[in-house]
Amino acid sequence: MSALTDSPEWKRLAVLRDAWRGRRVASLFEQDAHRAGRYTRVLGELRIDLSKAHLDPPTLDALLALARARDVEGWRARMFAGDAINSTEGRAVLHIALRAEAPPAQVAEVLSRIESFVGRVRSGNWTGATGQRIRTVVNIGIGGSDLGPAMVCQALEPYGSPELKTRFVSNIDGTHLATALDGLDPATTLFVIASKTFTTQETLANATSARRWLVDALGENAVAKHFVAVSTNGGGVREFGIDPANMFGFWDWVGGRYSLWSAIGLPIALQVGMDHFRALLAGARAMDTHFQTAKLVDNLPVLMALTGIWYRNFWNLPALAVLPYDQSLARLPAYLQQLDMESNGKSVDRDGNAVDYDTGPIVFGEPGTNGQHAFYQLIHQGTTAIPADFILVRESHHPLGDGAHQRILLSHGIAQTEALLQGRHAIEPHRVFSGDRPTTTIAIDELSPFTLGMLLALYEHKVFVQGVIWNINSFDQFGVELGKQLASTILAEIEGGTRERHDGSTEALIDWARDA
Ligand code: F6P
Repeated sequence: MSALTDSPEWKRLAVLRDAWRGRRVASLFEQDAHRAGRYTRVLGELRIDLSKAHLDPPTLDALLALARARDVEGWRARMFAGDAINSTEGRAVLHIALRAEAPPAQVAEVLSRIESFVGRVRSGNWTGATGQRIRTVVNIGIGGSDLGPAMVCQALEPYGSPELKTRFVSNIDGTHLATALDGLDPATTLFVIASKTFTTQETLANATSARRWLVDALGENAVAKHFVAVSTNGGGVREFGIDPANMFGFWDWVGGRYSLWSAIGLPIALQVGMDHFRALLAGARAMDTHFQTAKLVDNLPVLMALTGIWYRNFWNLPALAVLPYDQSLARLPAYLQQLDMESNGKSVDRDGNAVDYDTGPIVFGEPGTNGQHAFYQLIHQGTTAIPADFILVRESHHPLGDGAHQRILLSHGIAQTEALLQGRHAIEPHRVFSGDRPTTTIAIDELSPFTLGMLLALYEHKVFVQGVIWNINSFDQFGVELGKQLASTILAEIEGGTRERHDGSTEALIDWARDA
């Protein structure tokens, strides 16, 4: 037994879990007219309703006791103080410093360089090699160097300028770059090569092909006006052939999946302008301050984290569905997959011991109402319950039909949470809905740069708190390495190099791929 599973707080929760058998959340609403308010917390334009989850006073007390016993407050202080809590890599975890009211000098310096560059590009002052203004920004990056900025640019599209559009290329599959470049004029295209390490194979290959596309059209000398880089690796950027004057730096204490607040957010700033980018940072800062100062019982990231732990570890539910009822948040589930699964998909604790409890859930999702017509069947009637975060946004940026579209959208989101709670009796077994399936509703008045910043920081801190409770390092990602190493051996073999020994299946697939 580990210290965690052997702790009185853990054991108390296991006992409480048993006490929930046969009790339905719906009946708690009947017993307590104030249940909804009791389990709802509001921070500015963000409202989190946990009342449809299996929480009652003893359960919440026990979860909070677990958080205290695991020293969540101490770890939080260590993170904010810049201690090297990413222990396997000996690094601090300071993405919060990127959005601080008074950021460190190095952060402020890069922000002001970004501000001046963004101003020049958006005003048409920065021109391409032929003297024309930039119309399209193509971000080339993958993982954290893609998902955050791509998701935010889509979410904040209404705040963008019609004069300047962004596109994102991540996949090494040539189709991605080819389709992204389709219809673009090299003379009005700016490439942002985004890579923390500047060694990522996919990004460098895509950047090389993009460079060829540009040089073929405009010549070698055009590169300086059409390529900028975002990286922590100045040497790599120079070696690639991008002028360091056109590089925006960040630091090893910014994890890739936590980097959209850094210069990795450059495409966001280019699309929506610096004021909106700063509002995004300010929203995240508001959540940071809340996370740092609110009592645990009112602390949104802590409450969401504890609810997740409750379902993952005591109800043995393996997944988490993220269901934004807002088309502009279509990429949020993919972004949260990296944030959560790359952070907490771990099976050894901070001391290198195998854990004897489950860690991060499988995260998936799609915007509502699309998901309703696809995988919700399993969420309602499948053999495993799937805790789901419903993210509702009240104001639409496109209130079609005098707002009718938005009212329909919201009616569906709310109805789903009711259906999952209440279920339905029926004579025919296939029409029975068991109900009592857990949901959390995050309701946002309007999706603005500020509220989006709050939402993203909420999830960041939720993931952090869960990692603390599980005693894992949420900030490394060694699980991505083995496949990369094997791919380099296999690539050499596909390209005709000496055959290494593999299993029979892998060898047959390599033979097959040699015809590519
Ligand atoms: O392979 C995983 C990963 O290292 C992520 O953690 C990271 O966000 C992504 O690759 C891209 O890395 P880079 O920004 O260094 O190109």
